[in-house]
Amino acid sequence: MNEDNKLVAELARVLSNSRIALSGEINDSMISGIDLDVIASKIVEGNRESTGFRIISTDELKKMLEEIKTEKIPVPIEVIRSSDFKPDAADIEARFEINNRPIETIEGGVPDFVSYFKDRLYKMRHIIEVQGRRAIVNEMFDFAHDIEALKKSPEGAEKSVIGIVTNKIITKNGNLMLIIEDDTGELRIMFLKGTSQQAQSLFESGSAIVNDEVLAIKVRVGRGGLYIAKEVIFPDVPIKEKKSVETDVAVAFLSDIHVGSKKFMKANFLHMISWLNGETNPNQKELAGKIKYLVIGGDVVEGIGVYPGQEKDLASSDIYAQYRELFSYLDAIPEYIEVFVMPGNHDAVGRAEPQPAIGPELIKDFNKSNVHMLTNPSVMKLEGLEVLTYHGTSLDSMISAIPGLSYATPEKAMIEVLKRRHLSPIYGGNVIVPSKEDNLVIGSVPDIMHMGHIHKNGLANYHGVEIVNSGTWQSRTDLQVRTGMVPTPCVVPVYEMKKGTFSSINFSGEKTLGD
Ligand SMILES: [Fe+2]
Repeated sequence: MNEDNKLVAELARVLSNSRIALSGEINDSMISGIDLDVIASKIVEGNRESTGFRIISTDELKKMLEEIKTEKIPVPIEVIRSSDFKPDAADIEARFEINNRPIETIEGGVPDFVSYFKDRLYKMRHIIEVQGRRAIVNEMFDFAHDIEALKKSPEGAEKSVIGIVTNKIITKNGNLMLIIEDDTGELRIMFLKGTSQQAQSLFESGSAIVNDEVLAIKVRVGRGGLYIAKEVIFPDVPIKEKKSVETDVAVAFLSDIHVGSKKFMKANFLHMISWLNGETNPNQKELAGKIKYLVIGGDVVEGIGVYPGQEKDLASSDIYAQYRELFSYLDAIPEYIEVFVMPGNHDAVGRAEPQPAIGPELIKDFNKSNVHMLTNPSVMKLEGLEVLTYHGTSLDSMISAIPGLSYATPEKAMIEVLKRRHLSPIYGGNVIVPSKEDNLVIGSVPDIMHMGHIHKNGLANYHGVEIVNSGTWQSRTDLQVRTGMVPTPCVVPVYEMKKGTFSSINFSGEKTLGD
């Protein structure tokens, strides 16, 4: 290998981690024009069974390059387009705005960690105090300025205070001790186990509190600096009036497509795309023709190296091929539909949240002006309605931390997220971008909050906010069988904006086209 073979040198460097070397006869001209990551993953994949050190010969490499070139042929897709389809949405101009999340990457040192939590405390305090909540509760709850001020209150006083939860402990008597903190100090609050209905409901509210969330608590100052909880006040959302939309269009929600997984339900997905092209029964043609926006909430591909042993579950182990296949589907969506694509924890953009939008290295030469890449999370305005979309990775930690939540009802977990005005209340439950600012606070109250990740559809309305989980296009995985989870694949929630109602279109049947 001489000095000029820079590509070969780079490939050799990547392969050295897998104890694989390249024959000295291999040179740059053989591999130029092909993505090095693709070649490397192909070589590693092909040598997975071998133990010890391996040298790849020129012939072996040539064979693999041939295979890669054949894989590069775009996937032919069988989408049916109805000839008598006259979609209303085609004649209506799209009205949308995208607000991607800022992604600040810094060295995650201790001072930054402190400023991250301060930022969270201040933003949440602002929400609790200013956004109407305090105005309503102020009559009933005498707020202390901060924890230090509260500690100066006389015995018997009842005051409320805002803090960030640092710990929750069950004492040996079965009471609950909550520790909250702000920038002036720490407060230990007791939730006493009692038999009255009031005591039980307060204890239940205390049990639902999760680490790192910011909330307000009304306490009674007891003897010797003992603080007894009287009421839990979540930041919450005020009751929101339904915004009226004049334009008679609809938005459809998808997520967790998992292209590249052996369990991706391709035939059903193609039925759905045919449905968007008007290939459906006369009753549904009108609705199909109203779809103006399509929001895809992450896990658009299965990805590679997401969990140990994933290789055996992959239909394609080439990440670029997975995205190429996805884009071939997006290409078949009618161009008058604005499509918004967000990454999830399976996508190849790094796991830390907020996640950047799927970038040019994956998009390559796919170029459609109606397809827009979003950060995870993102806030959009569609026809004036504010749509908050987030993949939903934090739902795992919320479901395991809060009694009564389960994978069967993702909408309930989403309501708990909304009540806390934070997309990922429990720090460390999922990976967060090291940052001085907390970019996952739910600042303004959306009209629609959309998530995926759970692979189970769910719809609810909480204080006027439409809550939607858009399920999946992946059939039940072995892991889901082992954990007793039952997904609801191929069901598309569609929101008719003028009517203000959701309907669910089911594509799970073998031959149905949204029947
Ligand atoms: Fe997923």
